[in-house]
Amino acid sequence: MDARESRLRERCAQAGQAHLFEDFASLAPARREAFLDELEGIDFELVRVHAALLRDTSSTAAAQLAPAPLFPLERDPSEQRRAKTAIELGQAQLARGEVGFLVVAGGQASRLGYDGPKGAFPIGPLSDAPLFELFARRILAARRRFGVELPWYVMTSRANDAATRNFFEQHGYFGLAPRDVFFFSQAMAPALDFEGRVLRSGPGEVFLAPNGHGGTLSAFADSGALADAERRGVRRLSYFQVDNPLASLADPLFLGLHELEGARMSSKVVSKRDAAEKVGVIGMIDGRFGCIEYSDLAPELREVRDEQGRLRFRAGNIALHVIDVDFVRDLAGAGLRLPWHVARKSMSVWEGGQLVTKQGAKFETFVFDALARSPRSVVLEVERAREFSPVKNASGEDSPESTRADLRRLHARWIEAAGLPAAPRANDGLPLVEIDPLFADDEAAFVARREHARPQSAKGGHLYR
Ligand code: UD1
Repeated sequence: MDARESRLRERCAQAGQAHLFEDFASLAPARREAFLDELEGIDFELVRVHAALLRDTSSTAAAQLAPAPLFPLERDPSEQRRAKTAIELGQAQLARGEVGFLVVAGGQASRLGYDGPKGAFPIGPLSDAPLFELFARRILAARRRFGVELPWYVMTSRANDAATRNFFEQHGYFGLAPRDVFFFSQAMAPALDFEGRVLRSGPGEVFLAPNGHGGTLSAFADSGALADAERRGVRRLSYFQVDNPLASLADPLFLGLHELEGARMSSKVVSKRDAAEKVGVIGMIDGRFGCIEYSDLAPELREVRDEQGRLRFRAGNIALHVIDVDFVRDLAGAGLRLPWHVARKSMSVWEGGQLVTKQGAKFETFVFDALARSPRSVVLEVERAREFSPVKNASGEDSPESTRADLRRLHARWIEAAGLPAAPRANDGLPLVEIDPLFADDEAAFVARREHARPQSAKGGHLYR
């Protein structure tokens, strides 16, 4: 036994994880080395914290929940004036190159059932453009509009990092300069059984799962992305999820309101479709900003209505945030300390010399828990049809089919606003239409370019690019 092996055996034994070496002797030499490398990377102190969470059955006092103040979609004259000032401020931030884009794409796309990084999934209704390409073209549109370089930070995880980088390379970075796309990977945390033992996913393989999108903040700091942003003079990050192709990335109103408010982290919300919709709710938790996950909102609170008959907790989290770069620096410097959430799931694990399906626990932190550290924060209500249509499931609600339909519906609206002839309709009754973000990224831009709008035919419909 070499020194490294005995040191790691000792460390595992002390942490109550001696079972990890159970079938070590039967592993091929290369696998043994890889396994030892993996063990070196495990933070057993954190594993102890996670195991304690599983044992902790003490119920914490119920938090006081209240709706957060909203900057509403329907604005009174004073809000309209504030919006006007904000838009000017936001445009100036963009024109000074103070904004960077940050996409979280470290998830495993398990509900979608897609074997590849989710961003590679083709979503353009007529163009089949993958999610990453649509975002890249929106970024190109913003760069062109404001005449500056605006970098894009792409967070992956160990499971999809290489595939994501390859995808960008194969597609020539979708027209962006490689130096303006910064990949970084979030950390992983071992999955545990309910007795707190580290699980394995195969012989000589620790079962590691991404540590949640809260891991973005520390990974952003540790990877050098933070230093890159500071070097470029980027002061604010426009944060979005890879699953929402409608995400508006360079929104002067949002950026400007955030600045006016003196916020460090802000959120966009849409009015929940109904009480049962599976989105978190942005609200005040014990007097601080936060997001109440749909599974944590008590059924009676979900249904409560205000005097106007609207859901009291209707501010649905669409996971679009503005986050100050120096806020990330401060949080990461203080060791982050976001709360851990436990996800109990059925998983395929290596046990007794074979793969078995059993219940285990994964551990994640959530980026929106950082809202509690931003004493001031903007909660901007936006229109769902313009900004939110996530691809989550393989079929039904929030699926590729519903997202493509939402894109077509939105773009059909722009065509109508521009007074151009409607595209042919498909069997589902919706026009077969798609507008390339680089041609026009919103309705006003499309209307302004109407003289140049010549549709190409694609899949029997009209593609504007
Ligand atoms: C999430 C939000 C929910 C919000 C909804 C909007 C959480 C816990 N909840 O729900 O409040 O209303 O989106 O669409 O996030 N990701 C990583 N690394 C990880 C885990 C996730 O990068 O370790 C990324 C995924 O790639 C994805 C995003 O985070 O882009 C959201 O993850 P997902 O698990 O799909 O969240 P939801 O449960 O749908």
